[in-house]
Amino acid sequence: MAIVNENFLKLQAGYLFPEIGKRRRAFQQTHPEAKIISMGIGDVTQPLAPAVIEAMHKAVDEMAKKETFHGYDDSGIGYAFLREAIAKNDYKTRGVNIDIDEIFISDGAKSDTANIQELFGLDNIIAVADPVYPVYVDTNVMAGRTGAVAGQGTYLKIIYMPATAENGFIPDVPSQRADMIYLCFPNNPTGAVASKDQLKKWVDYAKENKSVILFDAAYEAYISDSKIPHSIYEIEGAKEVAIEFRSFSKTAGFTGVRCAFTVVPKELRTYTRAGQSVALNPLWNRRHCTKFNGVSYITQVGAAAIYCDEGKKQVRQTIDIYMNNAKTIRESLSSFGYKVYGGVNAPYIWVKTPEGIGSWQFFDLLLNKAHVVTTPGAGFGPAGEGYVRLTAFGNPSDVNEALQRIKAINK
Ligand SMILES: Cc1ncc(COP(=O)(O)O)c(C=O)c1O
Repeated sequence: MAIVNENFLKLQAGYLFPEIGKRRRAFQQTHPEAKIISMGIGDVTQPLAPAVIEAMHKAVDEMAKKETFHGYDDSGIGYAFLREAIAKNDYKTRGVNIDIDEIFISDGAKSDTANIQELFGLDNIIAVADPVYPVYVDTNVMAGRTGAVAGQGTYLKIIYMPATAENGFIPDVPSQRADMIYLCFPNNPTGAVASKDQLKKWVDYAKENKSVILFDAAYEAYISDSKIPHSIYEIEGAKEVAIEFRSFSKTAGFTGVRCAFTVVPKELRTYTRAGQSVALNPLWNRRHCTKFNGVSYITQVGAAAIYCDEGKKQVRQTIDIYMNNAKTIRESLSSFGYKVYGGVNAPYIWVKTPEGIGSWQFFDLLLNKAHVVTTPGAGFGPAGEGYVRLTAFGNPSDVNEALQRIKAINK
């Protein structure tokens, strides 16, 4: 008899986005003439940078000739040309030394943030922000690191750290011990960013508790404030306690191409039950090479192209389009009387719902009256109740149209 992994049965039915899709389809069926604009799901809309396209075309041509054909990547962790470009452009320029053996190229930060848990024992206590990117929680549920559902969509054996307007959406370090701490800055969904001092508190906490910080920096390219760190490794000592996840998805429009990377520093340690220290870098290398056969050569060539001068400029232009959207959304909604957070160093805008109106209720109102799809904050955790998330990834004309419609319902 094949026994199922019963941890999957603990997962709550109806992941956030399917529910949004269901409500959207139901509305469209009864209002076929309505032109719905999505400001909800965080996919990008602008095409790849010309430098990326050109590099990928060339790589395809290389694959067409015996002399330049590429099969499996021998390193198993990504081509050195891409890892070198990352070490130089993403880290060295910010005063951080990352060895190319500490960089692992993958097909996405979603899978990396999920897969990395395999290196950790099931008894570890995880801590997540509330609201949170749901992948961190659901994948730990699947692994069996959590208890059953506790109510309001939370699980037992997880430390939820409220990120609220009162703490500027930067959770405080918990009073109890957490072994694995998920942090995401710039934050999805709140759009909050953490200062060096705030991150230092986390690094100090992790050192004190021998914990590991799982730092998701998928949106670092959206930081414009020069004082805000792009990497946790800008904090002294962080290499001893933190793994960092990055992605080309939002940086360079690779959501449909798939390329990301994870940094596992050689200094980083975990412990056996007997207290013996174990380096994670060789373990992740082993896991990566055993279970993953690499990202395509064509994709890695395309990713490396974002680091050439033209690529850098073009990627920046696209990010500027999105951040202009973010500014328009923030300013317009504020002028309509809404309380708005985020959207300055992040492509997410976290909007307080009007007094007495819940997240899903406000979602339905915007869908029905403005034909605009948002993401209800409650879907990201109990502390997200009373908010909706808007993304800045839309086409500017759609964003402007959506805002005009929202303005009209407020008259
Ligand atoms: C916080 C965060 N991390 C990771 C990802 C996924 O990135 P990728 O496309 O590289 O899998 C997302 C995508 O929405 C995200 O919001």
